[in-house]
Amino acid sequence: MNAMARTRNKPQGEVTRGTTNPNRLRRVDRWIAATQAGALRSADRPLAIDLGYGASPVTAVELYARLRAVEPRLEVAGIEIEPDRVAAGRAFLERSGDAYPGLSFLRGGFELPVDRPPVLVRAFNVLRQYDEAAAWQAWEGLCSRLAPGGVLVEGTCDEIGRRAVWVALDRDAPRTITFAAHLPTLGRPSELAERLPKTLIHRNVPGERVHTLLADFDRCWAIAAPQSVFGPRARWTAAVTLLADAHPVLLRPPFGGRARWRLGEVTLPWSAVDPRS
Ligand SMILES: C[S@@+](CC[C@H](N)C(=O)[O-])C[C@H]1O[C@@H](n2cnc3c(N)ncnc32)[C@H](O)[C@@H]1O
Repeated sequence: MNAMARTRNKPQGEVTRGTTNPNRLRRVDRWIAATQAGALRSADRPLAIDLGYGASPVTAVELYARLRAVEPRLEVAGIEIEPDRVAAGRAFLERSGDAYPGLSFLRGGFELPVDRPPVLVRAFNVLRQYDEAAAWQAWEGLCSRLAPGGVLVEGTCDEIGRRAVWVALDRDAPRTITFAAHLPTLGRPSELAERLPKTLIHRNVPGERVHTLLADFDRCWAIAAPQSVFGPRARWTAAVTLLADAHPVLLRPPFGGRARWRLGEVTLPWSAVDPRS
């Protein structure tokens, strides 16, 4: 059995470049596992979707392994708009025998051709190839298709997953934004601007909240430079603590606190960057 629903309509969206890489999405998967267990358990037959998994099914398979460790009942559907990529996912499953019960690969787009509302949609490196208006529209459409209590995690990362930014949305609105980096190779926090989601990338200009946030983060990073003697994690943690004086950094678990900051993460409410309010 898989999560496919019958549909005759053309998938919504456009075929785009299929670039992907093993382990590229480890930072966002780790964050989902740590902060979204409630969402993953919010349905009797929970279904997660990896929307736009790309030329190889590898990141969908990784999502399956990482999230089944949190919620063993979870089914995962990789959805791709490009038919050869769906065939590659299905060929992988055939080669794997019964190793991945509850994992399936389907052709589709933003309409999400599944038989029940998902508790999670992870869409990574998908919307950056659309224009800004289409990205806002995709958020609205995908959120309306979530299960009650479900979450859309939409973001962008570099080729090997050392820099990532993502937004988590529920059925009603965007809720949080997370910045995550491989700290030993980070020059300064504003390098993450290159990875902003499409809904924010054009807003990184003076006068916009996201620009102020990243400029202040760079200043905190500079002030925290002496902490580098204890390593880049100590410096990041000190910079995030300073940033929290002027911005609404989420301070408590599951989103905040030293354990998360030491991973090179920081999460804030969406209102900290919202360009529309
Ligand atoms: C750059 S790849 C990203 C692969 C993977 N998510 C990652 O981050 O490594 C983007 C993929 O999204 C697919 N895509 C784009 N729009 C889509 C849509 N509306 N529905 C499903 N897949 C879509 C493209 O065909 C492409 O394979």
